[in-house]
Amino acid sequence: MARPRAMLAAALLAAAAAALETPTANISMFKRTHASCRAFDDGEFVAWKLGMVVSVNVTYYCNAGTQFMTLKPCAERVVATVLANFEFHYYQGHVTPQKEITTCDFADGFVAANDFSDPTFAWSEWTAQGSSHYVPTLDTHLKLWGSSGVSYLGRRYTDADGAVVYSARVVVPGSGHVVELVTGNVSSANAGTFAAYGAGECGGANELATTIAEMDDAWTAQGGTLVNLFGLPDLLPLRITQPSTDAAAIPEFLEAHSDQHLGASTFSHETDAESCTWTRSLLNIDATLAGWAMEVVSIHNRRAAKRGYNVSFFASYVTEAQDELIACNTGYARYVDNHIGVSLGGPDSLSLDANAESLCRNDVGFHNGNDSYDWGSNWCRGASGLGVEFQGNFDWTFFHPELVDPLDYCAKLGSGDSMDFCPYNMTAIKASSPETWWEENWMLVAVLAAVAVFCCCAAGVLAYCCGWCACCGGDAAAAGYARL
Ligand SMILES: *[C@@H]1O[C@H](CO)[C@@H](O)[C@H](O)[C@H]1NC(C)=O
Ligand SMILES: *[C@@H]1O[C@H](CO)[C@@H](O)[C@H](O)[C@H]1NC(C)=O
Ligand SMILES: *[C@@H]1O[C@H](CO)[C@@H](O)[C@H](O)[C@H]1NC(C)=O
Ligand SMILES: *[C@@H]1O[C@H](CO)[C@@H](O)[C@H](O)[C@H]1NC(C)=O
Ligand SMILES: *[C@@H]1O[C@H](CO)[C@@H](O)[C@H](O)[C@H]1NC(C)=O
Ligand SMILES: *[C@@H]1O[C@H](CO)[C@@H](O)[C@H](O)[C@H]1NC(C)=O
Repeated sequence: MARPRAMLAAALLAAAAAALETPTANISMFKRTHASCRAFDDGEFVAWKLGMVVSVNVTYYCNAGTQFMTLKPCAERVVATVLANFEFHYYQGHVTPQKEITTCDFADGFVAANDFSDPTFAWSEWTAQGSSHYVPTLDTHLKLWGSSGVSYLGRRYTDADGAVVYSARVVVPGSGHVVELVTGNVSSANAGTFAAYGAGECGGANELATTIAEMDDAWTAQGGTLVNLFGLPDLLPLRITQPSTDAAAIPEFLEAHSDQHLGASTFSHETDAESCTWTRSLLNIDATLAGWAMEVVSIHNRRAAKRGYNVSFFASYVTEAQDELIACNTGYARYVDNHIGVSLGGPDSLSLDANAESLCRNDVGFHNGNDSYDWGSNWCRGASGLGVEFQGNFDWTFFHPELVDPLDYCAKLGSGDSMDFCPYNMTAIKASSPETWWEENWMLVAVLAAVAVFCCCAAGVLAYCCGWCACCGGDAAAAGYARL
């Protein structure tokens, strides 16, 4: 199923310079979910420091009637939306299994590796984990960050039109991924804080496929405003980036299990200052107002500083853990909370069943859940430690319509029985629905009725007695019998 490496190399040769192939017609990307260690901190940060629009911000508790219903949260979940209807989710699960090194340990490692306030900061492998967005000006953000102590990493390069692209990176506090904002417009007072990409930073991989002029047109086409609900310019999403030690692995994984040709391009810089390889693919996104596509960039930067858990260790650790904890539509692992969402909803796309069959055949475990009668998701480990949620239509060639259920945030294994984490509280159940007199006594009533019927029959009054069991005595019975 996986397209051989040679095809990616061929795609590179075919792709003149940095030109990307046309975006995918049959699949699209709709979100990036981060496994967070402090989801509400992340929500506050992306809303009030970045200008993402937070639309869902909730704690899930055990259902009413179960023990600990308001004591133990199962999960916290924040949904933040940017232009073109693209979503970032910050999800903090408390019930699903994980191994010794937890999603929180990894998140703390990412945060430490991206300490932009440290004057000795050196570009780390994890600086390449996150997302990039366009804003028409960075001045509003820079002013806010300056007054609220948010450190950023300023970089610049020149685009294909000769325009200077200013880039400011910040780290999201509870999950440790980077958000990069790019613009062509900063005041001269701020411009001095943006340095050219330096040695070991793999500048080429950080340059975007689109120019400032194209991004600005798209920002307008997507209905961007300079002052949104959170007082900041709207963000136009441009790309998702993931560090890896095998830059081809993510596009190969997506191609293998969606049966699509992504047209990934592979690039390499091998100089005295750089040693890096990266792949770029362009995925359509399900934009509300007009078409828009985002890059998925996987970067193997051999010169980046190794901080905390290194990229190679992270990818193999979470892959092995998920291969152990998740099988063919059974089990769950907290690491899978870290994923991109890919919709198989295009005109010629694979069904969710065909996707499931492909995952199982290749020994990639997944967990299925439905959103409606014929639409659902398969969550799986993906590649390079970046999970994938494939969303699509059921055609019931693999799944059974009566055996699917939605993801349950309180169930240890994602769905089915959540009672191991949320056991029933019998005191609460009894208190909320006391039994009526009839519920308590119906058996006694039934027994008495049966005895009464038996009396009548025993008296030899077969035909009439049921009408007047109250006077089942011998005379009345005899009278009734006589009337026949
Ligand atoms: C979409 O799927 C159809 C049918 O499988 C295929 O012919 C076409 O090439 C696909 N488009 C892209 C852009 O991959
Ligand atoms: C989300 O909810 C938490 C807890 O109720 C609250 O502290 C936080 O301010 C909310 N965040 C946003 C962005 O509304
Ligand atoms: C069980 O329910 C009772 C009655 O609603 C409540 O007082 C008690 O705190 C609950 N126990 C737990 C462990 O949630
Ligand atoms: C640059 O941003 C400023 C606000 O900081 C705005 O007034 C100006 O119009 C912007 N210029 C361009 C070319 O977008
Ligand atoms: C990555 O981390 C692991 C575990 O700490 C270590 O064994 C390995 O040597 C590291 N790899 C590199 C290339 O530093
Ligand atoms: C998922 O499928 C089950 C079984 O057919 C159904 O009862 C349930 O309503 C579906 N869930 C949703 C959210 O539609």
